[in-house]
Amino acid sequence: MSTPGRYTITAALPYTNGPIHIGHLAGVYVPADIYSRYLRMIGKDVAFICGSDEHGAAIPMRARKEGVSPQVIIDKYHAIIKKSFADFGILFDNYSRTSAPVHHETASEFFRKLYDDGKFIEETSEQLYDAEADQFLADRFVVGTCPKCGHEEAYGDQCEKCGSSLNATELINPTSTISGAKPTLKQTKHWYLPLDQYEDFLREWVLKGHKKDWKTNVYGQIKSWVDDGLRPRAVTRDLDWGIPVPVEGAEGKVLYVWFDAPIGYISSTKEWATREGKDWEPYWKDKNTKLIHFIGKDNIVFHCIIFPSMLKAEGSYILPENVPANEFLNLEGNKLSTSKNWAVWLHEYLEEFPDKQDVLRYVLTANAPETKDNDFTWKDFQDRNNSELVGNFGNFVNRVVVLTNKYYDGIVPTPNAFSELDLQTLAELKAYPAVISSSIERYRFREAGQELMNISRLGNKYLQDEEPWKLVKTNEERVKTIMYVALQITAALAIVSEPFLPFTSEKLKNMLGTNGKELKIDWNEISTKEVLLPAGHQVKKSQLLFSKIEDADVQKQLDKLEATKKANEAENKIVEPQKETATFDDFTKLDMRIGTIVSAEKMTKTKKLLILKVDTGINTRTIVSGIAEHFTPEEVIGKKVTVLVNLAPRALRGVESEGMILMTETPDGKLVFLNPDTDGVNPGAVIS
Ligand code: 2FM
Ligand code: ZN
Repeated sequence: MSTPGRYTITAALPYTNGPIHIGHLAGVYVPADIYSRYLRMIGKDVAFICGSDEHGAAIPMRARKEGVSPQVIIDKYHAIIKKSFADFGILFDNYSRTSAPVHHETASEFFRKLYDDGKFIEETSEQLYDAEADQFLADRFVVGTCPKCGHEEAYGDQCEKCGSSLNATELINPTSTISGAKPTLKQTKHWYLPLDQYEDFLREWVLKGHKKDWKTNVYGQIKSWVDDGLRPRAVTRDLDWGIPVPVEGAEGKVLYVWFDAPIGYISSTKEWATREGKDWEPYWKDKNTKLIHFIGKDNIVFHCIIFPSMLKAEGSYILPENVPANEFLNLEGNKLSTSKNWAVWLHEYLEEFPDKQDVLRYVLTANAPETKDNDFTWKDFQDRNNSELVGNFGNFVNRVVVLTNKYYDGIVPTPNAFSELDLQTLAELKAYPAVISSSIERYRFREAGQELMNISRLGNKYLQDEEPWKLVKTNEERVKTIMYVALQITAALAIVSEPFLPFTSEKLKNMLGTNGKELKIDWNEISTKEVLLPAGHQVKKSQLLFSKIEDADVQKQLDKLEATKKANEAENKIVEPQKETATFDDFTKLDMRIGTIVSAEKMTKTKKLLILKVDTGINTRTIVSGIAEHFTPEEVIGKKVTVLVNLAPRALRGVESEGMILMTETPDGKLVFLNPDTDGVNPGAVIS
């Protein structure tokens, strides 16, 4: 496949209102990183660009909740996110932030150019206004019922249930998320990008152009938007957090975050170019540059309709060559959610699995949500690690390096004549880089990852067929050839694994090189070079590349999620509605006393029941209570409890129970006795 030399690769700018989780990594950053690393390896000129998106509405909202300034929030999460990317080997050429001066300048200039060229419509209209908070409400600042599907928690810009894009004024029963107030309508002026005027351009560019090779999910979304008819879209907001609108008469207004964020790709490129002493413009303006946006599916409209229309309106920029958007990753069957803490946070993962960055990269690639939503499960994580990385890749490499050290003190042996199988194995090996290239260049990273594993499968099969550890006793010369072939496969693995498993690749290259001599082979040389590791080359001792993940490690993660689920349930627990009115007479009929449990035993053949003897002050009586799953008999003996003593006696499993112990429940379902401060109160004391 022929590819031009220069690539600008962008990965969606994450919002700095929280850390990042596996969903972000799987959907955007791992595929973008594989793609960029691969292109660099085959000698392309790559600018891999990202940065923090710091003007999102959720940021001032979170700041308000935490009682700090938005700056505190963005500084905190920018640092955490940037570190997570570095920790997982996401090798951006530049990671900037939209609060950087270069971004404010670039976004302001961009707006100003469109403004001066008359590309905007200026319109005064009535917008939702929260009088209590003295703020106009748009986007996430207002919720209400979706006019399209009836979902009651639609936002002012979008309904997350049906995916419709909305104007805040379309919401039914809107409520301010700042104060909870019902908004009123108030006039305000804004600038709109008339997307309707770009319909023909978009049809031509994406729908009729050469974009048929775009992913069907992306193509389908664009087509349905354009077919539905586009409307002018406001690119300014009445907010105090963002980039001030750089024209007269726009005091108190800022650029809409989705206007400034994609321009962040341009400003981050500028920042990089300045640092590297390069010219940024060819990366955005040269027709031969390929611009590729890696995003999640919720960002399709912004990258395939709005940003291209902005670039077209500006006039001097190239348009994206492809937007390989991914679907979503779920976690153990449920949608990943920052607010519900239903996530595997990258910084927490590293605390639990400090040397397993590549394992997560691998599992997220093997299970990437490329064409449909997918599920991450800890069991799958464990299985893939133990069988594919430890059992296949790691096992092959370890066998080869250990045997080379054992038989030849780590020196690559001189081969004798190759057998049919040797030649066939070497030929198969040489074919892999092209196969993997083709998958990567078509954005099929799952497929590419599996082909990588097939290289070590090829190696394992070869060793299994040849059994050098047996043959060494009878035919040392043949074993030299076998080990030589196996070492060539190991060298190829070290190179080809780099985009997918950069930490492992580095370790393996280091194992295969000596005296500071790096293993230097180009991707394409694997197919063309006669020899990758020449006879006489010294390799080092074997180091384990991967280690087993035990059941207990997985259980720990599942327990953590279970605790999250319980906490969420407790938070959402509906307070039961008040029962029907009881008269005073009804109440006085109930005879409740303080009692003391004097003995307790489990009822045989049941799980739930304890047989208690309770001193009620009136007498000591038997009460059968369904608390055996929560308390042992020893725990309850001596406890003061509240007893309903005049409940009609009834037989439970043949034991007559004369009363009821009153209990309540904690949010996570634990039973507790109703024994308020009863010091000095004797059994029999009446509760009234
Ligand atoms: O959805 C998001 O997380 C956005 N912050 C993505 C922005 S991508 C870009 F255009 F900057
Ligand atoms: Zn809806």
